[in-house]
Amino acid sequence: MSVNRGEFGSKLGFILAAAGSAVGLGNIWKYPFEVADGGGAAFVIMYLAFCFILCFPVMLTEIAIGRKTNRDAVGAFSALGFRNWSIVGKLGVISGILILSFYNVVAGWAFGYFVNMIVGNFDIGNQFGDFIKDWITIGGYAIVFMAMTALIVSRGIQDGIEKAAKFLMPSLFLIILFLVIYAITLPNSGAGLEFYLVPDFSKISFETVYGALGQAFFSLSLGMGALITYGSYVSKKDNIVSSAAYITLTDVAIAFIAGLMMFPLVAFINQGDMSNVQGGAGLIFVTLPGVFESLGPILGILIGGIFFLLLSFAALTSTVSLLEVPVAHIVDEYKVERRKAVYGMAALIFVVGIPSLLANGAVDFLSAKTFFGFDFMTFVEKVASDTFLPLGGTLITFFAAYIWKKENLHEEIAIGYDGYGNSFVKKYLDLAVTIICPTILSVIFLLTVLNIYFKISIF
Ligand code: TRP
Repeated sequence: MSVNRGEFGSKLGFILAAAGSAVGLGNIWKYPFEVADGGGAAFVIMYLAFCFILCFPVMLTEIAIGRKTNRDAVGAFSALGFRNWSIVGKLGVISGILILSFYNVVAGWAFGYFVNMIVGNFDIGNQFGDFIKDWITIGGYAIVFMAMTALIVSRGIQDGIEKAAKFLMPSLFLIILFLVIYAITLPNSGAGLEFYLVPDFSKISFETVYGALGQAFFSLSLGMGALITYGSYVSKKDNIVSSAAYITLTDVAIAFIAGLMMFPLVAFINQGDMSNVQGGAGLIFVTLPGVFESLGPILGILIGGIFFLLLSFAALTSTVSLLEVPVAHIVDEYKVERRKAVYGMAALIFVVGIPSLLANGAVDFLSAKTFFGFDFMTFVEKVASDTFLPLGGTLITFFAAYIWKKENLHEEIAIGYDGYGNSFVKKYLDLAVTIICPTILSVIFLLTVLNIYFKISIF
């Protein structure tokens, strides 16, 4: 079965590739505006709690299932002997296609901003609305982006991605750190930090709860088998508990410092007034160009250009993992040649993304709040990341605990981790997969469905 599927070159290679999948537009574009929309620090606390309490066990379970079976997200369930459960993998493949369809459009924005920065067009921030409305230009950037993704995926994961991630991730980290320091020295930054770090629990609504959960899943690339797929390329010698811990910490740290960068900047621009912070998809794209401009022409072009270039690369390591899930599925299960699978899938997903491309001003009914109160692109994001991912997480943990059986899960995780048997991680994971994750995730899932699709809110 597993003839020449490939394997990550090293443990570090896997961690970087999985962290590369996790760290992306979700951390730097989506997280700050979700925090803004969710009311600030109260959202942040919930997000952090979800990442560590609920998502970490899901991540470990996904990696374990992948490594145990050496199969794609769908085939993994069959390989364990539960064909019926492969529907969970299918849901994951569909989620991956949906997420990549709109993600690629936003990646096109980021890439377009890079081009605008290097020619010194800082005014682009004020023209964000017109920029994303221009579907021909954005479509062009998006095609280039999808083509780069396809090129990397067609070469297999190790060569391109492992190497690129090693250099790019630390660079991105450094440039954000520079911007954090710059932001904090600006006037009124304190008001931004307060908004970001001092919770006001009266701002919590159910939208905040499901938004934080969806964001946690999205940011950690969970709930759709991306880590089952990456886990299937992991060596039996590795300690996957520590790998999962590094991946989670890296991802959460980058999102957290992106917030430390963003909110002082927003406060600076709003002159300290955080009472009416507008989140929305434009947050980084509207705010940052003005900040780069304030650095002066040379430094502005340099830092602005590098920032959006690195953001594009961060997005690229994520789009690669999103494309890898459906590709691995058709390669493993239908024996399609990898190259054909890659280019076919990439084209299909691009087409699925066209309505999202047009939903930012180009076509009125797609851009208006026609779809359960959302524009089309936001709607796809709600369906995939706030609904399907937590559902996937519920089903994956339930499956591991009760169908595959938790003893088998523990046995797989213990491989490569000598002290696992008596560890705290084992005790917590046991509780998490049997009780905490399936119950909390399914309750939030049901309430989310009521909220998004039926407009019924319990609080
Ligand atoms: N985690 C990525 C980000 O934050 C997006 C992503 C990549 C993703 N692969 C995924 C989300 C798989 C969910 C599932 O930008």
